[in-house]
Amino acid sequence: MRKLAAIILSSVLVLSLTACSNNRQGETATQAPSSTDAPASTPAAGDNESEESTVTEGTASDGNILIAYFSVPETDGVDTVAGASRVVVDGEVLGNNQYIAQLIQQEAGGDLFRIETVQEYPGSHDPLLEFAYNERAEDARPELATQIENLDSYDVIFLGYPNWNADLPMPLYTFLEEYDFSGKTIIPFTTHGGSGFSRTIQRIQELQPDAIIIEDGLSISRNSVPDAQSDVTEWVAGLNL
Ligand SMILES: Cc1cc2nc3c(=O)[nH]c(=O)nc-3n(C[C@H](O)[C@H](O)[C@H](O)COP(=O)(O)O)c2cc1C
Repeated sequence: MRKLAAIILSSVLVLSLTACSNNRQGETATQAPSSTDAPASTPAAGDNESEESTVTEGTASDGNILIAYFSVPETDGVDTVAGASRVVVDGEVLGNNQYIAQLIQQEAGGDLFRIETVQEYPGSHDPLLEFAYNERAEDARPELATQIENLDSYDVIFLGYPNWNADLPMPLYTFLEEYDFSGKTIIPFTTHGGSGFSRTIQRIQELQPDAIIIEDGLSISRNSVPDAQSDVTEWVAGLNL
């Protein structure tokens, strides 16, 4: 009789231990993401989920941001206020998007990467217009002269370019066809003469269907480029990187 009681008792013990250990596994599985993925600043449960999935929290300080840009400073001719694509900073002539890229870096950190082509673009306005027009008419893919060395180490790619002929400049097509940004977040910015982004954000999405494209990109009129600092500061802050 005592033997039977001992068997029943040990069976009950084994069953309750199994139940306990199952519970712990369950707890660990639900707790793990919040303790490993989420830094202190992560929004509380119930906050906007899409924010978490589009821009990786706490990554700015991890140095995983790349600021890639294409920009053609018009070194000849009129100044920015009169409509040319250039800004002069400390005596250095910069393209409009080049300048905005530098401001973004000041705010967000990260590495700057200039998209350059083997064939140089004309430095004055009318020849540049003609050159770009022909490239677009030919649906050209200009060969790139600069390469990203370590794409794997970047999760967030700011991508800047001028609006050319209501489209992406053709070197951006080469760039977006050459690299695979699947799973990465692309944050577009542009400077323009009045057209804003046109349909370039949709174009980026078509060329990189598996990347996360932030549609709330930064669009700055070329006339406002020299005074863009506060707009850039505000926009970057709103991205919650
Ligand atoms: C070839 C070419 C085509 C352009 N086409 C447009 C256009 O369709 N719409 C627009 O708003 N601005 C257009 N612009 C103006 C540029 O978008 C603007 O000057 C921009 O700030 C240049 O940037 P960047 O200095 O970084 O190259 C064009 C400029 C060039 C040179």
